[in-house]
Amino acid sequence: MRTIVKTENVKKFYEQTKALQGVSITVHANDFIAVLGKSGSGKTTLFHILDGLIQPDEGSVCITGKDIFRMKKREFIEFRRTHIGYVFQDFKLISEFSAVDNILFPVDLDHEKVDEFYLELLLKELDIYHLKDRIVKTMSGGEKQRVAIARALINKPELVLADEPTGNLDSYNTEMVLNLFVRLKKMFSLTVMIATHDYAVAKRADHLIVLQDGKVQRDVYDK
Ligand SMILES: Nc1ncnc2c1ncn2[C@@H]1O[C@H](COP(=O)(O)OP(=O)(O)OP(=O)(O)O)[C@@H](O)[C@H]1O
Ligand SMILES: [Mg+2]
Repeated sequence: MRTIVKTENVKKFYEQTKALQGVSITVHANDFIAVLGKSGSGKTTLFHILDGLIQPDEGSVCITGKDIFRMKKREFIEFRRTHIGYVFQDFKLISEFSAVDNILFPVDLDHEKVDEFYLELLLKELDIYHLKDRIVKTMSGGEKQRVAIARALINKPELVLADEPTGNLDSYNTEMVLNLFVRLKKMFSLTVMIATHDYAVAKRADHLIVLQDGKVQRDVYDK
């Protein structure tokens, strides 16, 4: 089993708040991992650190064996673009742009050729093909969520970090997104890590990490 994420004693404090108090986790490639915890337990903080968006106060983070906080900035930007897809809790879509322009934004930035076949596959799998030319601000929360997932996957990352990807979805769409992650994981050898406060969602994962007050309270495999 290949290790894709390894954190050691990661700590992050915000003045009085101990958001992460020594988180050490090991995640294997091609698993579906759920980080489960109540609001404020540190899920988003951990995911932002794994994505290099914020720096831990202490500890190390290796993604595919590379210590991301020891890389040069330019090297990390390229590494992140090719290795990590991130679905933000609040989507961070450009509301004036169409769905497809949002999805292709990370590709356009690099002036790369669009893999039209893959784009169409994502749009169909996420059931947003019919919405591709719709302006994002006219979409429902669940539709935006699926656009954000497509954008995270467009560069075929190895690791997908999805922060509450089902938080805005009804049970039908929650099931659809979970099934999609499982399918894409198999199709593209992805490792999918989701943050959730919902045990029913977390129990679909192969690997469950429970965070409580910024500490790993449980870390179990269920294969
Ligand atoms: N930028 C910040 N400045 C100050 N405190 C912060 C900041 N970001 C997070 N925190 C605090 O750190 C703790 C962990 O927050 P975090 O957002 O990681 O939790 P979470 O598990 O993602 O919660 P939720 O389920 O509500 O999204 C909380 O107490 C939060 O108030
Ligand atoms: Mg959060």
